[in-house]
Amino acid sequence: MPLHFHDCAPVFADFHHSVLDGLSAHPKQIAPKFFYDEVGSKIFDAICDQPEYYVPTVERSIYETHADDILASIGADGCHLIEPGAGSSVKVRFVLDRARPAMYVPMDISAEHLRASAQRLAREYPALTVHAVCVDHTQPYTLPAEIPMPRRVFFYPGSSLGNFDPGEAIRFLRDLRTKAGDDGRLLIGIDTKKPAEVLNLAYNDPAGVTAAFNLNLLERLRKELASDIDLDRFEHRAFYNERLGRIEMHLVSREDQRVRVNGNSFDFQAGESIHTENSYKYTPDEFRQLAWDAGWAGEKVWLDERKYFSVHLLRTR
Ligand code: AVJ
Repeated sequence: MPLHFHDCAPVFADFHHSVLDGLSAHPKQIAPKFFYDEVGSKIFDAICDQPEYYVPTVERSIYETHADDILASIGADGCHLIEPGAGSSVKVRFVLDRARPAMYVPMDISAEHLRASAQRLAREYPALTVHAVCVDHTQPYTLPAEIPMPRRVFFYPGSSLGNFDPGEAIRFLRDLRTKAGDDGRLLIGIDTKKPAEVLNLAYNDPAGVTAAFNLNLLERLRKELASDIDLDRFEHRAFYNERLGRIEMHLVSREDQRVRVNGNSFDFQAGESIHTENSYKYTPDEFRQLAWDAGWAGEKVWLDERKYFSVHLLRTR
């Protein structure tokens, strides 16, 4: 089948203005979506190879252990499978290798990357109709009319939802609910609450890859925003905030300093931080409640033996 490509002209988040706004705010912040430039995306892949960052391995083991059950439950044969933020479309292969969806719809903001991986996929699965949609799925968008309404199955793996605050997460899930129609389903990977030691280690890997990932944001400031910011004067900090049920990542100033960004100056006190990421963790019950509030009913949930990660199947209610 040929590849169909839809450019829904995503509005690119403005790094320049977001950084100036974020560094003027109290507390200072930069949104995690800015981690993923070309270098950052490569460092993220390296995070996924760290043994302490259990997320990708545990999630994959769940898909492999329960493949038959999951495929039967989503009604994989003949469904229209839609993946927001598909990236390289790696995880979806556990479905494509075992079943025959009528259509696969990878969506991603990076046009070239999306085109290349969708092309590869269309060649590898000749019976599959692929509609690639270039869109920023965190912004409002409409799906192309070629994607039939019945039997839509959304796939949102990797605990990407964790970057949203609970309120934003509900808005995002509600939007998927609207797009899914009345017989729609959502298969979603959610990281669970677990002992703080395990979480803290996962975001403070001894090899320092997560630290490099965090600090790469400052490298982007240097390269793209003509900043004099000195990476050696900041350090990576990640910790589990038990009260809010989230990992927080920060870049902490080691000293009092003034930083220039595109002609503006920003003052830091020693110990002051830029908040760069939240990664929310949900127990299966907590997530089911959140999804319910967004119009979804929990149908099934699969966990690994240690209950480190959960894969939920939801249906529209
Ligand atoms: C891609 C958002 C799921 O929160 O675990 C990994 C990003 N940051 N290590 C996560 C991340 C630091 C990751 N998500």
